[in-house]
Amino acid sequence: MRHEHRSHDHGDQGQGHHCANPSVVAGYERAYQEAQPAAGGRVVAYDLEARETEWEFVPGKKTRAWGYNGQVPGPVLEARVGDVLEVRLKNSLPEPTTIHWHGLRLPAPMDGTENVQRVIAPGETFTYRFFLPDAGTFWYHPHSNETAQLERGLYGALVVRGNGEPELDAERVLVLDDVKLDRKGQVKPAGGMIERHDGRQGGTLLVNGRERPELAMAAGQTERWRIVNSSSARYVRLSIGGRPFRLLGTDGGLVPAPVTMTEVLLAPADRVDIAVGPFAEGETIAVEGLRYNQGSVAPARRRTYATVRVGAAAPSRAAIPATLREIAPLVTGPVVPTREVRLGFKMSLRGVDFTINHEQHHRDEPVRVGELQVWDIVNATKMDHPFHLHGFFFQVLEVNGEAPAYLSWEDTINIPPAGRVRIAWMPDDRPGEWMYHCHILEHHASGMMAHFEVVR
Ligand code: C2O
Ligand code: CU
Repeated sequence: MRHEHRSHDHGDQGQGHHCANPSVVAGYERAYQEAQPAAGGRVVAYDLEARETEWEFVPGKKTRAWGYNGQVPGPVLEARVGDVLEVRLKNSLPEPTTIHWHGLRLPAPMDGTENVQRVIAPGETFTYRFFLPDAGTFWYHPHSNETAQLERGLYGALVVRGNGEPELDAERVLVLDDVKLDRKGQVKPAGGMIERHDGRQGGTLLVNGRERPELAMAAGQTERWRIVNSSSARYVRLSIGGRPFRLLGTDGGLVPAPVTMTEVLLAPADRVDIAVGPFAEGETIAVEGLRYNQGSVAPARRRTYATVRVGAAAPSRAAIPATLREIAPLVTGPVVPTREVRLGFKMSLRGVDFTINHEQHHRDEPVRVGELQVWDIVNATKMDHPFHLHGFFFQVLEVNGEAPAYLSWEDTINIPPAGRVRIAWMPDDRPGEWMYHCHILEHHASGMMAHFEVVR
């Protein structure tokens, strides 16, 4: 499935653009040609097929799911900073799809939204090709009919490695999800006022597409866990049996220095990299989501995602340096926000509609390349919303008036009920159509999203 790609043949993507807007096609062609690896880098190519598959979320129960290459989650895509990633996606679903590369700083025509490409019709193939400038734990998922397509299993992790990262004893990618199954083990159809308001929360918790797996770990070792919350709406207040672990990275890669903690909140779409262990032989440790109060939404109960069984000891070579990375602050000292983004709702015949600045599917003002953006994201509702900005990392300046404990690059941040989060970001020279939205998929679908243009 993974192969070194030599030619510039990008399959029948031309067909995928049949009757598309000519400037969209030209933008895509340019982005495709311009994606060249850095010196020493490679073109890392994958073929993905989105199709129906039989999947055992719950051992012994076959579910008609949708997956990439017949698996849930899709394959972990791996590359290095300086590589070009080329993914040829064949759509064998009965409906159109696209892939959004969540967290990647890529050119707008490769962002996978319906604003920058024509959707890929059933039977068609489309090739994404872009340069990888940043190391981190990212993920990929459809940006068409997301509420249904992600719930059925279309999502996967993308790991981009950099130079000089900490060396640990082992690495795991853990993609957390939940799915709502009926008695026969089939994915329940979407719907209902509660799902529309709270977002869809399923009763079956998944780690890498399976309910409650066991993870075997050697005593005395420290592992790097790359964790993705791919749930439609579920918040994960992650605990590793109450033991301390060290935060190494967030959405946009490593943090400046490891941070020791006993729990971390992963809003939908959030990622963390943590150093876990060492543990003693014979221990059993629960990977849990702790109880989480989310305002007007019923609190998430404490639940177990997976169990770690600690086996015989193995030697450790894990070394976590005191300094992981240099991050220059975008803002020092007082600053005036350049924009306010208001997350709200209004009542309608359907129940509730979610809005940005009082509008569903808001059209926001353009942003100019090189002009610092300081945005106040204001939550005018009584529940949490995970705010996600496409294509650009931001720094969090304040959460309810307080500076965060450490500097980091993020693409998704939780906005607490009635809260205010100030972020800063710098639009680099990647003009085009971009968007931001709440990553509770039902809220995004109902209109808590905005389009805007980055202009030169
Ligand atoms: Cu993962 Cu538009 O989002
Ligand atoms: Cu929301």
